Amino acid sequence: MNIQPRVRGFICLTAHPEGAYQNVKHQIEYVKSKGEIKNGPKKVLVIGASTGFGLSSRISAAFGSGAATIGVFFEKAPAEKKLATAGWYNTAAFEKQAHEAGLYAKSINGDAFSDEIKKHTIDLIKQDLGQIDLVVYSLASPRRTHPKTGVAYSSVLKPIGQAFTNKTVDFHTGVVSDVSINPIESEEDIQNTIAVMGGEDWKFWMEDLKAAGVLAEGVKTVAYSYIGPELTFPIYRNGTIGQAKNDLEATVPVINDILKDLNGVSYVSVNKALVTQSSSAIPVVPLYISLLYKVMKAKGIHEGTIEQMQRLFAERLYTDNGEVALDEKGRIRVDDWEMRDDVQKEVAELWNQVSTESLPNISDIEGYRTDFFQLFGFEVPGVDYEADCNEVVNIPSIS
Ligand code: NAI
Repeated sequence: MNIQPRVRGFICLTAHPEGAYQNVKHQIEYVKSKGEIKNGPKKVLVIGASTGFGLSSRISAAFGSGAATIGVFFEKAPAEKKLATAGWYNTAAFEKQAHEAGLYAKSINGDAFSDEIKKHTIDLIKQDLGQIDLVVYSLASPRRTHPKTGVAYSSVLKPIGQAFTNKTVDFHTGVVSDVSINPIESEEDIQNTIAVMGGEDWKFWMEDLKAAGVLAEGVKTVAYSYIGPELTFPIYRNGTIGQAKNDLEATVPVINDILKDLNGVSYVSVNKALVTQSSSAIPVVPLYISLLYKVMKAKGIHEGTIEQMQRLFAERLYTDNGEVALDEKGRIRVDDWEMRDDVQKEVAELWNQVSTESLPNISDIEGYRTDFFQLFGFEVPGVDYEADCNEVVNIPSIS
């Protein structure tokens, strides 16, 4: 079938398997070009493995240190004349290339918040790998059904206290306008967002994996957080999602306690703002990212998810001397280049100037748009989008 992008706001309803294949291939090539990650992980579970930071983590582990990987995610499978979601095609592409390279790679498609998927994952680890030495927790979801109570929670992206007004961009049209976001109406908004994106599910995973005896001595686990600049604080770090990130970060000592007798350790890594399916849904943030890209590209320090994750593995989690650099709050920082004073100063200056008229010149809105379409396998160099493409692409370990 001929597959073209069909966009509704910040989501794309279609995805291109060949584009996904090439995206994954480029990420693999990048990791291979950086050389072996010495002392890297060997048996890895990635929760949220099909897109964004989780996919890049899986690729870094597999192709950087030859790791066997199990990936868990929630994606739609294809059928005759029905497209799969991008994460499905990404995973089909990843498994194919991993298997060709002689690497173990299996995947589980289902709700990672459920007890059932946790059990299924543990059974697969027992059957195939015995024990794992790294757990990457990279879920981003708008809702979660609690496995013990059955209560369904939805997260919200709202400021706390007062309404927040700032500039935002429609990255399809390039129109810059003011957006006002009303604050939470009740404490419940905060609690719901924490229930979805906070640390409880990460803790449940680590408890279950530990109780099943599938964690190796010295196991590591890492989950991802974001801080960003002051101009996004009201909607991000000081908003409902920021409260969930505080909760996630506060789960680190709780998990360290769970892992104590295995000499295991847990980390939160603060990553850079990047175009992913999740970040494009947050108001204000896409405009910030398009200015940030402009500044970081001009300075030669721009990174995508794969550059971020390769650096996380090679220069933070698995260093030659075994030391992991942490900030004053005990977090890994790979947002260090984003947060550099010179970068933030220039972004702030551009922020004051940006308007619909100046956007094409002073931002990298084109880079934002291209990254957005590439998330779904479109606008990938070398792919013939006029050619017919088979939509029914299987994930080897699932079908
Ligand atoms: P993403 O949307 O690209 O990936 C989310 C992953 O979670 C996908 O693999 C998806 O299938 C999986 N998933 C969602 N709900 C699921 C469920 N119920 N069961 C199983 N799998 C499920 O998101 P992204 O941006 O890579 O986010 C990952 C983490 O990184 C999040 O914690 C996010 O807050 C954090 N982060 C993101 C930044 C950004 O700019 N995008 C910056 C810093 C941190």
